[in-house]
Amino acid sequence: MQQLSTLAQWRSAANDARRRGRSVGLVATMGALHAGHESLIAAARENCDEVIVTIFVNPLQFSSPDDFANYPETVEADLAACERWGADTVIVPSVAEMWPHYGERETTTVVVPELSEQWEGAQRPGHFSGVAAVVTKILSLTGESTAFFGEKDFQQLAIVRRLVSDLALAVTVVGCPTVRDADGLALSSRNVRLSESGRARALGLSRALKELSSAPPLSADEARSAMKRVLNEHGVETAYAQIVDSDTLRALTPKDEGNARAIIAGIVDGVRLLDNGPVTVVSAPEESHAAGH
Ligand code: PAF
Repeated sequence: MQQLSTLAQWRSAANDARRRGRSVGLVATMGALHAGHESLIAAARENCDEVIVTIFVNPLQFSSPDDFANYPETVEADLAACERWGADTVIVPSVAEMWPHYGERETTTVVVPELSEQWEGAQRPGHFSGVAAVVTKILSLTGESTAFFGEKDFQQLAIVRRLVSDLALAVTVVGCPTVRDADGLALSSRNVRLSESGRARALGLSRALKELSSAPPLSADEARSAMKRVLNEHGVETAYAQIVDSDTLRALTPKDEGNARAIIAGIVDGVRLLDNGPVTVVSAPEESHAAGH
């Protein structure tokens, strides 16, 4: 496994691979790697000849300096994990390499309208323009490739798909299922910041999603209420618990039916946690439409 740090090395590693007729698989990360990242690298390993992993904690996507400063950094362990999991190249650029003018002047960002404005975007201003900027740069430096992103960050995945399509980048985006601990907690680099009791409360998110599949089919409104109830029962502060269209991420109305996505953000021990899952909803009876839902 080779470790690179400059953009020039990165570009030529990907170009060299393609010149040798090898397909390139990309996994973009912010480090603090866990089994969720392992599954992305495994998918890249299975589907592509050459696997490139990037490790870069992108300052542009943090809404507060504290959140950026507290983000776990475990580069040595991450490199060892990448080697074990079969990456060919790991790129660990510095902030100065990625954003040479960071802190000096505003950096170019990429805005994906509508998709970025709701849910996480509404509560974390600037977050998705920072994500979209770094992902656009990572994809453009890597060039023609297949990029693997986790479904755990469902809104991010929708935004990446949209920007790749709108900007006609030569990248195929593959969404990979969320990896969970045995008790259902979705893996996240932020989980290490949970206390023991916080971790138990955090199970409220996956249990709220589970509630939707075990119940008889619910309307979008009933599903939202059911999720909020479970989150409250677990002492999770609900940022949102919504039923949305899987592509546009617009909230479903009580009249809507069919396949959709349940998305949740909750705060436990001051840590923002996300989860989501597929859900099928039924149209609510006419009287509840009339009741102004
Ligand atoms: O999901 C992440 O780890 C980050 O948002 C990403 C996609 C690597 C961009 O910094």
